[in-house]
Amino acid sequence: MNAKPEQDRVIIFDTTLRDGEQSPGATLNPEEKLIIARQLGVLGVDVIEAGFAVSSRGDFEAVQKIAREVGVLNGPIICSLARAVRKDIEAAAEALKPAARGRIHTFISTSDIHLTYQLKKTRSEVLAIAEEMVACAKSFMEDVEFSPMDATRSEPEFLYQVLERAIAAGATTINIPDTVGYLTPKEIEKLLQGIKQNVPNINRAILSIHTQNDLGLATANALTAIENGVRQVECTINGIGERAGNTALEEIVMALDVRKFYFNTYFRRSSDSQVPLTNIKTTEIYKTSRLVSNCTGMLVQPNKAIVGANAFAHESGIHQDGVIKHRQTYEIMEAASVGLTENSIVLGKHSGRNAFRTRLRELGFELNEADLNKAFIRFKEVADKKKEVSDWDIEVIVRDETQIAVE
Ligand code: KIV
Repeated sequence: MNAKPEQDRVIIFDTTLRDGEQSPGATLNPEEKLIIARQLGVLGVDVIEAGFAVSSRGDFEAVQKIAREVGVLNGPIICSLARAVRKDIEAAAEALKPAARGRIHTFISTSDIHLTYQLKKTRSEVLAIAEEMVACAKSFMEDVEFSPMDATRSEPEFLYQVLERAIAAGATTINIPDTVGYLTPKEIEKLLQGIKQNVPNINRAILSIHTQNDLGLATANALTAIENGVRQVECTINGIGERAGNTALEEIVMALDVRKFYFNTYFRRSSDSQVPLTNIKTTEIYKTSRLVSNCTGMLVQPNKAIVGANAFAHESGIHQDGVIKHRQTYEIMEAASVGLTENSIVLGKHSGRNAFRTRLRELGFELNEADLNKAFIRFKEVADKKKEVSDWDIEVIVRDETQIAVE
């Protein structure tokens, strides 16, 4: 894969089936993985990290099935994770054989805390292993991604050396993982500037970011990385993943879509270009989110950006009044753009007359002013006692407070 043509947009690397599946309790069987992978293909992701082939028989089978059925010509690149260990790389290469375009993603830790306590290796040993194992992966396929795990807590000079060696050995994508979700956006910027200035051949590879969400900064950090030349973002549907999860695909994609004119200035294009910054078909986002939630059993919090049940819902009277008059008063994107058919006005104690009257009309009731006043007073009494006033409640209110017959 040639790095250069991709530089004018962001490559979406979806790791729902690998890092996402590492969420406690979210285990998927090969059949479920295949169903999700097919939908990721429809969604238009560029790379699907289908699993960690060496980790289990089931994961090997899943990567192989996805490579065969989803990794077709003009389909997404199918990727398998592999430690910088020969047997991992061989398993990944074997599982990926049926894919039209495969990628091996190999990684080794570079922070002193990981070297001392986990790997029990010196820096020079890690340097040699990284180089040797990237070359090993390269002997199987052209497309090789390298990640220095815990990069953001690694000593910068050592990190630069490892990255330069990995590129020399053939890595086509260099991914920078904020493995424990530790940095702030300003620090991400500083780290990436340091890498660009101190890794002489960094431009030969696509620069990628993998941000975890331990401090709730994953999306902000990934967007900052894009502003600083990163052209691949690793993310998951609904932001699932280890601990507090990963960057949510839907947040990155919609931020780049809604704020296109802002982000265009960081790409080689005019600031008013309408060309999307990703290949994602945004109208497939909601459906994909539901599918992942159903298969993993991981519920989406109601206030989750983009895909939460409340993301397009308006409860307060002032907001409802505004949205009824003009959507954009309180909506920066249309629900339809992520595949929802409508925004929803939720009637509750903060709702105003305008929203109440609009819902009555939707339910087929055209009340005169006097009846509307009586019904609205009763509605407020009910709303004070309940979290949400349903259409059934409203029909009862209309029946009790007006002369209108309700069947
Ligand atoms: O969080 C991490 O460091 C990873 C790497 C393997 C990319 O998942």
